Amino acid sequence: MDTHNENNATRRIEALKNRVQMMKDHDYYFYNQPVEQILEGAKVKVKGRTMGMYASYSYLGLVNHPRINEAAKKAVDQWGTGTNGVRTLAGTLTLHNELEETIANFKHTESAITYTSGYVTNLTVISSLMGRGDYIFSDKINHASIVDGCLMSGAEFRRFRHNDMEHLEGLLKNAPSDIAKLVIADSVFSMDGDIIDLPKTIELCKKYNAWLMIDEAHSVGVLGKTGTGIEEHFGLGDVIDIKMGTLSKTIPSVGGYVAGKKDLIDYLRHGSRAYIFSAALPPAQAAAANESFKVILDEPWRIDRLNANTKQFIGGLKGMGFDTLLTETAIVPVMCGTDEMAFELTKQCQENDIFVLPVVSPAVQEGMSRLRATVTAAHEPADIEHAMSVIETAGRKMGLIK
Ligand SMILES: Cc1ncc(COP(=O)(O)O)c(C=O)c1O
Repeated sequence: MDTHNENNATRRIEALKNRVQMMKDHDYYFYNQPVEQILEGAKVKVKGRTMGMYASYSYLGLVNHPRINEAAKKAVDQWGTGTNGVRTLAGTLTLHNELEETIANFKHTESAITYTSGYVTNLTVISSLMGRGDYIFSDKINHASIVDGCLMSGAEFRRFRHNDMEHLEGLLKNAPSDIAKLVIADSVFSMDGDIIDLPKTIELCKKYNAWLMIDEAHSVGVLGKTGTGIEEHFGLGDVIDIKMGTLSKTIPSVGGYVAGKKDLIDYLRHGSRAYIFSAALPPAQAAAANESFKVILDEPWRIDRLNANTKQFIGGLKGMGFDTLLTETAIVPVMCGTDEMAFELTKQCQENDIFVLPVVSPAVQEGMSRLRATVTAAHEPADIEHAMSVIETAGRKMGLIK
């Protein structure tokens, strides 16, 4: 790079380039590996090898479900591959309306709106609703898209300690009473796998007259007896004002949504920039998502399997002595401490055909690097047992467990 033109941007590029190169030099670069084939039983082919997949968000194993694939293919035959327009103008198909009705029914709300990614959903929804002078209270380890949405809104941004309701109450108490307030949290935290204390959060929102937005990216299909999410998990009715979710995890498609009261959704339909200024979901993706919500309800055995597999995986790893934080869900952190330890454990797993990935700083706090393993309904118990024995052998060799 031309040193005469060195500036902050070129320095950032250089710094990251060096970090990536260092990882590659140590054989510690595991990102962006192409999957060559998706196989039965949560297995994939990578570099010609069949590996157990322990990094996927396909919590109910719906990828390649025949009904969902068929719905997507039919949509392509009927509507083609793109919408060539934004929803407000020429981009809305009856398919989009059908999908939004399906989501509203699934989430027991009056209405729903979809966007083309979960990331964009958080950006646009938070920044459309909140503005300068308003207050947002966000859990410290909320997903990056929530943080970005809060910053984009220009509202006062207050972060409460992770799942710490006393801290949240203190912050709410100190905010002016006559302004708009929004409390926002992941339902299942995407790095730690634990669950927000929804009953207490609702109590505080009521007490301090704040709206509540919950990101259900990792709880749809995961929490609740029928997989409808966090309200069902806690045995509560329709108690969340803004129910955000993605179409890219349990739902094998792409996109994001918000479900809520009709007035809120109508406002977003006419006032959120990602809806007005960005193209509509492609037909195949909308149809796949629509069918997926129906499959979740029609095949509740998948949730039972996911729960059994989750219990086996967390229980097994804990029993071996690994620190898995407070996870209760399919996201299972295997704590390593330093980046190097997380990279080394990943390397040993991958060399033994277990596809799992490390999460390091700045995605998590320094010293909290980990394997972020996931388990799904598609895993076989014997395969989970094998994956755990690989992690155990590596963990003992590295001194992570005794
Ligand atoms: C909690 C949470 N919210 C939002 C997103 C963004 O969703 P998408 O991948 O659909 O853009 C993610 C994705 O990882 C997530 O984990």
